[in-house]
Amino acid sequence: MRQSSALRSHPVWDATTRWFHWINVLCVLGLLGVGLVIFNAGTLGISGEGKVALKTLHVWIGYVFAINLLWRIVWGFVGNRYARWSAALPGGRGYGQALVGYLRGLRAGKPPPYRGHNPLGRLMVALLLLLLVNQCVTGLVLAGTDLYLPPFGHLFLDWVAVPGASAEQLVGLKPAQTPLLDADAYAAMRTFRKPFIELHELGFWGLVLAIPLHIAAVVITELRERNGLISAMFSGRKVFSEEPRD
Ligand code: HEM
Repeated sequence: MRQSSALRSHPVWDATTRWFHWINVLCVLGLLGVGLVIFNAGTLGISGEGKVALKTLHVWIGYVFAINLLWRIVWGFVGNRYARWSAALPGGRGYGQALVGYLRGLRAGKPPPYRGHNPLGRLMVALLLLLLVNQCVTGLVLAGTDLYLPPFGHLFLDWVAVPGASAEQLVGLKPAQTPLLDADAYAAMRTFRKPFIELHELGFWGLVLAIPLHIAAVVITELRERNGLISAMFSGRKVFSEEPRD
């Protein structure tokens, strides 16, 4: 009883950060799932039209994902002190020392408490952010090269199509299937596109590895430290029996 009265609840994650987190979870799950089907479309015997429909669905989920991510990036400059990039990413004054202190505490079985991300968690945030931004940028380019969709679709259409041709006439077609495409320009566009699809696939595998690592780290930290790390992403609050470092 005496111990529970010593527990103090602290507000940590603001509403924007929590909404971002759960919208991002839903979008990433949807994008991973639909992306995996697109990736295996040949093996699954999906028709050309089916593939275009799947890619279009993937891109629409991608737009929600991209807007949510962009908003979170802005929020990292204007949100509460724990949502800010200065507190969420590695680096800054004293970060190296804090990381060493946290790792030492971890080895000794008593890591120092943090309201926001602990120094190790900040490395994970950086990795996840990098992977998400990579998927976002490469995905938006691919949406332009493949489906001629915004924000870059009009540029690719101007590059590969004869003047006056529309995206609807060309989606899913190659130069051999229509006189509306310029074969040389189309080949050059496909060469330009190659590193983007490679980075998009690499980012996919990066997320397939990083997401379970993130979940495992959160569950292990919660079991060891008992600060309400997981429930805080719903309630916004964590509990501590001693004064956190941040
Ligand atoms: C977490 C985020 C994302 C994941 C995990 C993901 C995953 C994938 C995967 C696995 C593929 C199949 C790759 C292949 O067929 O070689 C794919 C394709 C594609 N993605 Fe994403 N994606 C993400 C975000 C986005 C976003 C934000 C957009 C655009 C708004 C986007 C647009 C596309 C397009 C257009 C394709 C088709 C490329 C092609 O095969 O021709 N993706 N994605």
